[in-house]
Amino acid sequence: MASVSTVSAILSGHATPDPSDVLSMFALPGRVALVTGGVRGIGLEIALAYAEAGATVYCLDLPAHPSEDFIKVQAHVAALPALSIGILKGAKRRLEYTSCDVTHQKEMWAVVERIAEKEGRIDVCLCNAGVLHAADVLEYPAEDWQKIHDVNINGVLFTAQAAGRQMVKRNTRGSIITVASISGHCTNQGMQWTAYNTSKAAVLQMTRSLACELAPKGIRVNSISPGYVYTGMTKEFLSKNPTLDGKWRAQNPTGRLANPEELRGAALFLASDASSYCNGSDILVDGGHCAW
Ligand SMILES: NC(=O)c1ccc[n+]([C@@H]2O[C@H](COP(=O)([O-])OP(=O)(O)OC[C@H]3O[C@@H](n4cnc5c(N)ncnc54)[C@H](O)[C@@H]3O)[C@@H](O)[C@H]2O)c1
Repeated sequence: MASVSTVSAILSGHATPDPSDVLSMFALPGRVALVTGGVRGIGLEIALAYAEAGATVYCLDLPAHPSEDFIKVQAHVAALPALSIGILKGAKRRLEYTSCDVTHQKEMWAVVERIAEKEGRIDVCLCNAGVLHAADVLEYPAEDWQKIHDVNINGVLFTAQAAGRQMVKRNTRGSIITVASISGHCTNQGMQWTAYNTSKAAVLQMTRSLACELAPKGIRVNSISPGYVYTGMTKEFLSKNPTLDGKWRAQNPTGRLANPEELRGAALFLASDASSYCNGSDILVDGGHCAW
């Protein structure tokens, strides 16, 4: 935990006059983070936020080689000037890419072990990779149902296992964050997403179970539940149905969808010391969708 000028530190005469103190609680200097599904969308946006906060970030995703968009963001991070003040002084910011499939348990364990051996630690893991498929519930093909659950449930578990094993091995007080959804809290009106909704409810419960079992090992586990966000995942549905954007906007009191960067704050909070007493929590970032 970064040293901060708390009220008790001030009253006992141990506070230091550093105006950036409260912000330092959100910094990730020298930390190593993993982000699955990190080649695009919400994953890439949060990976960038973690790198800006001082971390070395490994994005794990399916393509053998990262996309042009990823390479541009990677170059941006590499060009960030070294900070010379405060808690980020001298912090190296780096974005790396590794190809892997979250549904392969042993592959995930091996990939993350290699990263931990190279970097010496794993501090943060965002289990973000996910897939979405629509089908009439009475006709839902077994193989599509299975595919959704392989990625969205098994993949989250295998990623959390891979990171947690390295955190325990290296005695790191780590933070694991799963990406659930409003779809784990309520049913998306008008959408035939039973498999997806079921998988996200499972992620919420898995997060609480992981949090309880891993807390004695010094690892916190929390989830983020986004509302509708403009990414490749939602574009697939929005581009086929021109009235859908308006319908989704009307379903939350804020009256709009989110952009991926609006997930940064919650993701950084949960990764950092700022959330040191959060465990088994879920943060809804949904414009109030579930408040209605
Ligand atoms: N976009 C939204 O409106 C929204 C809302 C709530 C929750 N979410 C969740 O946020 C997460 C990110 O979604 P997004 O909108 O950025 O979607 P996206 O489709 O843009 O990105 C998902 C990424 O996951 C990767 N992926 C899929 N299967 C994988 C596998 N087997 N192994 C490794 N990587 C795999 C994909 O290649 C892709 O890069 C998902 O878990 C999604 O369910 C999204």
